Amino acid sequence: MQIQSNFPLRHYNTFGLESTARFFVEITSLTELTEILTNPEWKKTPKFILGGGSNILLTQDIEALVIHPKITGIEKIKEADPQVWLKVGAGENWHEFVMYCVENGYGGVENLSLIPGSVGAAPMQNIGAYGVEVRNVIESVEAIEIETGELHVFSNAECNFGYRESIFKKEARDRFVITGVTFVLSKKPKLNIGYGDVQRVLAEMEVSVPTIKDVSEAIMRIRRSKLPDPAKIGNAGSFFKNPEIPVSKFDEIKYKNPLAPGYPVDENTVKIPAGWLIEQAGWKGYRTGNVGVHDRQALVLVNYGGGTGNEIKLLSESIQESILSKFGISLKAEVNFI
Ligand code: EPU
Repeated sequence: MQIQSNFPLRHYNTFGLESTARFFVEITSLTELTEILTNPEWKKTPKFILGGGSNILLTQDIEALVIHPKITGIEKIKEADPQVWLKVGAGENWHEFVMYCVENGYGGVENLSLIPGSVGAAPMQNIGAYGVEVRNVIESVEAIEIETGELHVFSNAECNFGYRESIFKKEARDRFVITGVTFVLSKKPKLNIGYGDVQRVLAEMEVSVPTIKDVSEAIMRIRRSKLPDPAKIGNAGSFFKNPEIPVSKFDEIKYKNPLAPGYPVDENTVKIPAGWLIEQAGWKGYRTGNVGVHDRQALVLVNYGGGTGNEIKLLSESIQESILSKFGISLKAEVNFI
């Protein structure tokens, strides 16, 4: 375990932003983690946990000891046909874990193919795509308390999952390092192909009875056609959450824009795609300096290279103001500002 000083984080955040960690350490085991957390020399230094860096906007240097968990391993801990329980290290790459499940015929995460980030970050914001959220397949989350170095196991219910939310973004924020996640998957899954383009793409692939692998392939095709690859263009996926608005407000918008999309949440509330609002306000494909709004999915802000976190922050604020004045809706960021 090597602690480095003044460590550059550009390759540790998917926006590719420049920022320096005062100290940086990569930990590969629970022992290393507890060692560093309980070490009297580091006790007083603030700690910052950096996982896959796929959901953060770095607007400044980090004056802390940045801990990058790299605990790996996928272990089958239980099997009761057709279900399989896998315990996965937080440092595993999310998409590689999904590919492992697809190859082994374990269903439940195929709709979450190609989401950037690490396994440990998945429960944090309850990642979701194409009708599936990771909460559906999480049995429990293991985490070490930063203050005490003690291990806690959070059951699914204790994680308090919501739309892009969990206890780890709220009450337990900055208090725990997620070290492992236990998933319950199924060899006979109920495939989820109801969302938007999935069926259309499966038809294009000439698949009539899809397998887990077909669904994963369809999802990857859709994502590749809309979402920028962070390895090529810096981004953090959706920048804002899709806002939930009263039905009356949605009806008002629909009256002026009959094609406005919306998904009912309950009888009083509709979720409206922020990407649609942003496109309607004229931002899609907008560029200022080295940052901008993706030209194929307006919900994604991008760093073309050399942009700064503050430029992206300013752009996001201009978008928020514009959506507020045009639609009376306030957009909330999904990405965490640092
Ligand atoms: N739309 C537009 N213009 C745009 C983008 C979207 O008009 O530029 C409209 C279209 O009508 C489209 C609808 O919005 O039918 C929905 O768009 P899309 O299917 O691309 O999904 P989204 O609601 O914009 C959410 C998630 C994504 C996830 C997709 C697919 C949030 C904040 N985002 O986006 O998640 O991949 O659904 O399930 O809920 C992420 O969180 O980082 C992420 C990429």
